[in-house]
Amino acid sequence: MRSFDPDDSNVVRPFPFFRAGVRADPSAANRPILVLEDVYKYFRADKPTLRGLNLTVERGEFLFVTGPSGAGKSTLLQLIYRKHTVEEGRILFCGRDIARLTSKSIPYLRRNLGVVFQDFKVVQHWTVFENVAIALEILDMPQRLVRSRVVETLERVGLGGRGGDRTSNLSGGEQQRVAVARAIVTEPALILADEPTGNLDPHLAIDILTLFEEVNETGTTVIFATHDHSLISKRDHRIISIEDGRVSEARRGLRSWSARDIISAADTKRGSGVHKHPVAV
Ligand SMILES: Nc1ncnc2c1ncn2[C@@H]1O[C@H](COP(=O)(O)OP(=O)(O)OP(=O)(O)O)[C@@H](O)[C@H]1O
Ligand SMILES: [Mg+2]
Repeated sequence: MRSFDPDDSNVVRPFPFFRAGVRADPSAANRPILVLEDVYKYFRADKPTLRGLNLTVERGEFLFVTGPSGAGKSTLLQLIYRKHTVEEGRILFCGRDIARLTSKSIPYLRRNLGVVFQDFKVVQHWTVFENVAIALEILDMPQRLVRSRVVETLERVGLGGRGGDRTSNLSGGEQQRVAVARAIVTEPALILADEPTGNLDPHLAIDILTLFEEVNETGTTVIFATHDHSLISKRDHRIISIEDGRVSEARRGLRSWSARDIISAADTKRGSGVHKHPVAV
């Protein structure tokens, strides 16, 4: 594994992923960040949750994932961060199949991902600083660098000066900002957000959505799962819906949500995203 150089602005991102010693693959920069090919996931033998799901996500995209409760939105994200494995199909992250990574390689994959959940999953009795710093400490980053990274990231999410506060004293919206800070402090290539605004009132939901959009502006790809159509309809991002275990593509800029707005993925022309920083592989 590469050692840290505080003068290198790309100090976090160049982890080899999948296993130590894998050299960077420059051609990966031109590939979509994520491709799911004919993915099947069964939790019950008689009823697949995902059945032949296909999806391509370009670098730098902001993608909403929606669909009814139980459709498989969380399952899709969980397959990407390897909480679960697929039964059939491939999941290519920067061109490499992660669907069947060995357990030893999974931490390398996860260094390239930031995950944010509906219930924040922050440690209440830790300080704000500690909750964010942990993401860097598990990478063995030197303390001096951890400190500057965390301070900078807390500023970025609007929590400048709050590092010493006990997390339980923060509001729900502020706690979700801590969770976002923890997800982005390692500068991951891809952020997976599973109903990150589900516990927040509509006003705070917009604030958190805007925060993810600011992260996306810097080149990070964001996949944002939500069933909140009022939130989705306020924005112009690409939208996919999971129904019957497959993906349907909805039009960008959807203002009023209706069934006829869902069109087949094959009929949709997507613009390719921009990603400012190539992902190290
Ligand atoms: N670990 C698991 N074990 C068994 N079944 C599961 C598991 N995880 C998910 N499922 C099932 O897979 C289906 C999809 O669940 P998932 O949580 O992905 O839906 P969702 O679209 O995220 O729903 P919601 O909008 O309610 O969050 C459901 O039928 C669920 O019961
Ligand atoms: Mg879910």
